[in-house]
Amino acid sequence: MASQQINAPASEARSGAYWQRFAVSFEFPVVFTRALFAPENRTLADAIARLEPDRRHRCLVFLDAGLAPELAARIEAYAAHHAARIELVAPPQTMPGGEKIKNELAYVEQMQGQVFQHRIDRHSYIIAVGGGALLDVVGLVAATSHRGIRHIRVPTTVLSQNDSGVGVKNGVNLNAVKNFVGTFAPPFAVLNDFDLLASLPPREKIAGMAEAVKVALIRDPAFFLWLERHADALAAFEPDAMATMIRRCAELHMHQIAHGGDPFESGSARPLDFGHWSAHKLESLTRYHLRHGEAVAIGIALDSRYSVSAGMLAQGADDRVCFLLENLGFKLWHPALRMRGADQRPAILQGLREFREHLGGEFTVTLLTGLGEGVEVHELDEAMMMTAIDWLEARSKS
Ligand SMILES: NC(=O)c1ccc[n+]([C@@H]2O[C@H](COP(=O)([O-])OP(=O)(O)OC[C@H]3O[C@@H](n4cnc5c(N)ncnc54)[C@H](O)[C@@H]3O)[C@@H](O)[C@H]2O)c1
Ligand SMILES: [Zn+2]
Repeated sequence: MASQQINAPASEARSGAYWQRFAVSFEFPVVFTRALFAPENRTLADAIARLEPDRRHRCLVFLDAGLAPELAARIEAYAAHHAARIELVAPPQTMPGGEKIKNELAYVEQMQGQVFQHRIDRHSYIIAVGGGALLDVVGLVAATSHRGIRHIRVPTTVLSQNDSGVGVKNGVNLNAVKNFVGTFAPPFAVLNDFDLLASLPPREKIAGMAEAVKVALIRDPAFFLWLERHADALAAFEPDAMATMIRRCAELHMHQIAHGGDPFESGSARPLDFGHWSAHKLESLTRYHLRHGEAVAIGIALDSRYSVSAGMLAQGADDRVCFLLENLGFKLWHPALRMRGADQRPAILQGLREFREHLGGEFTVTLLTGLGEGVEVHELDEAMMMTAIDWLEARSKS
């Protein structure tokens, strides 16, 4: 038995158990570029050739239907220009964007069918060009086909460039529960092209900024002040301000994943999910009529107010958070906050139970002790939360 227990601590060796242990380290580039598919831009070709520079790589591309129709032709021209490295196995496949693609498992099966049909193997690439929803689904397809195919993300929304695209999660919704089916699977590369945001509707541009406010509030006081100072420029989608906001937000998310100690969330906390317990519930209560970011903005306002009511955050700081979100273009009230469940209890509170069930372990949510300082708590008072909802409603009417 000695050989199996070579590195086992004495206590483990005594128990007679085999103690399997290994670590896998992940690394991938996150590139900020412009004109990603211009033939002279080598970013994508270099990312594909990173591990095997002398091979031609089979690539299957999925495109978000919200993108400009001519993008498919541009990607084909790019692949032709870089034919020594890139072989497109089929023309880019357009798929529905938005929550629709996450709500129907049939899309996952359809895409896995394409992986099979085009003989995409573990040294080939699946490239997803789209918003957070499409990236989540393609990420799941890539992670589960052949137990894991290299996956390159090209995020095309503010939210996916500053948050979800640089993360390590994927997933689809089932039984009206967000991300019920999914995996943790780091991508092979993330290529953020600011120019792809040009066609994004204003509502989507605003929605993505909620994640920047969120991460500033829990991690970075200076970024929060920066957001306050640049709120007008951001509300006007001024390019320099938008690019800076996206980059800083992405950096903070990447830092948490790499250095937070729990990239695959095996503990009880989801440290980056401030404001999200209610946001996920609001999304499903409104049948995804509210965008993820819009729901997050309401969730941030609610948990900021709750933090003040709980005596953790200074009086008035909740108003400051709300002013910033409103200046960026968010509405901080939705009638779904008043919906009742079958048991006549406020339906939004069911979000707390679902948050707990998703994580398991000890209930943990993040609240604020400062504008830039998050703290984890393990209890929320439901009556006090309802009072925070009353406050939000009264505020929306004043
Ligand atoms: N995996 C994670 O870690 C993580 C983190 C946060 C959010 N998410 C998920 O991301 C999803 C939300 O993503 P999102 O906010 O990026 O929006 P989205 O993917 O839902 O897209 C919104 C709309 O914009 C369209 N679109 C996308 N790019 C476009 C472009 N450049 N021009 C014009 N239209 C475009 C889409 O077709 C869609 O209609 C949610 O499902 C959320 O749960 C995942
Ligand atoms: Zn989010």
